[in-house]
Amino acid sequence: MMWQSCCLVLVCAVVVSAQFPRECVTPEGLRSGTCCPSPSGLNDDPCGSGTGRGECVAIAVDARPHGPQYPHDGRDDRERWPIRFFNQTCRCNGNFSGSNCGRCRHGWTGANCDQRVSVVRRNVMGLSTEEKRAFVDALDQAKRTVHPDLVIATRRTPEIFGPDGLTPQFENITIYNYFVWSHYFSVSKTFLGAGQASFGGVDFSHEGPGFVTWHRFHLLQLERDMQDMLQEPSFALPYWNFAIGGEHM
Ligand SMILES: *[C@@H]1O[C@H](CO)[C@@H](O)[C@H](O)[C@H]1NC(C)=O
Ligand SMILES: *[C@@H]1O[C@H](CO)[C@@H](O)[C@H](O)[C@H]1NC(C)=O
Ligand SMILES: *[C@@H]1O[C@H](CO)[C@@H](O)[C@H](O)[C@H]1NC(C)=O
Repeated sequence: MMWQSCCLVLVCAVVVSAQFPRECVTPEGLRSGTCCPSPSGLNDDPCGSGTGRGECVAIAVDARPHGPQYPHDGRDDRERWPIRFFNQTCRCNGNFSGSNCGRCRHGWTGANCDQRVSVVRRNVMGLSTEEKRAFVDALDQAKRTVHPDLVIATRRTPEIFGPDGLTPQFENITIYNYFVWSHYFSVSKTFLGAGQASFGGVDFSHEGPGFVTWHRFHLLQLERDMQDMLQEPSFALPYWNFAIGGEHM
């Protein structure tokens, strides 16, 4: 799994890049707490361990008490993420990445993830008309393409098995909307129960030292997903130069 160590204001946690891989959100998967899928094309090879890509391991999370800014405990699924859902996931070796270790880390490509790929973000004002159109088309495609691997939870853990106890409450999401959703998920308030006010005193990805880490992560995730969607490992998001505005290049 692609891991991201984010030191948040509230908790220091190892955060999985995904909401959840589609293969894991079955009643059996949720009951076992294990999310160790096999890389696509391989059967029964959790995390690609047979080919040395990774291993299925227990997740260790920080168990220190919350800081005073979060006076609740056990109310928010994001506490000690992701162990309310899964407590075993893939840990990938070397340049392998992804929830099943079937992908390459950002910046690497090839069957063995041993070829470097140069991903250069360019100033959007320096793109030609054609390049801008290609970028907008790619965003439009991302807005319409269902994420191939990840689904999002639409209920909190107490209701996650659905009204009949057999229908895990997850939905498909498009690649672009996943980018929006993961940002939303990191900032949203804590739900305290029906009829109660939600707690807005924490924001995991703004107003604190986690800001830069989180936002780099969101952009890397979108860029990496678009590279796969376009089958273009060197695809890069352009940047906007806020320091000097749009007039210079
Ligand atoms: C992992 O999660 C499963 C499912 O929730 C649970 O039954 C199991 O006790 C957990 N294991 C540990 C070590 O927390
Ligand atoms: C990624 O692959 C290259 C080329 O094989 C290798 O030199 C490098 O050590 C790998 N990176 C990691 C983190 O294993
Ligand atoms: C979600 O997307 C997958 C892959 O595109 C598809 O196989 C599945 O039928 C979709 N599920 C729903 C509920 O739309």
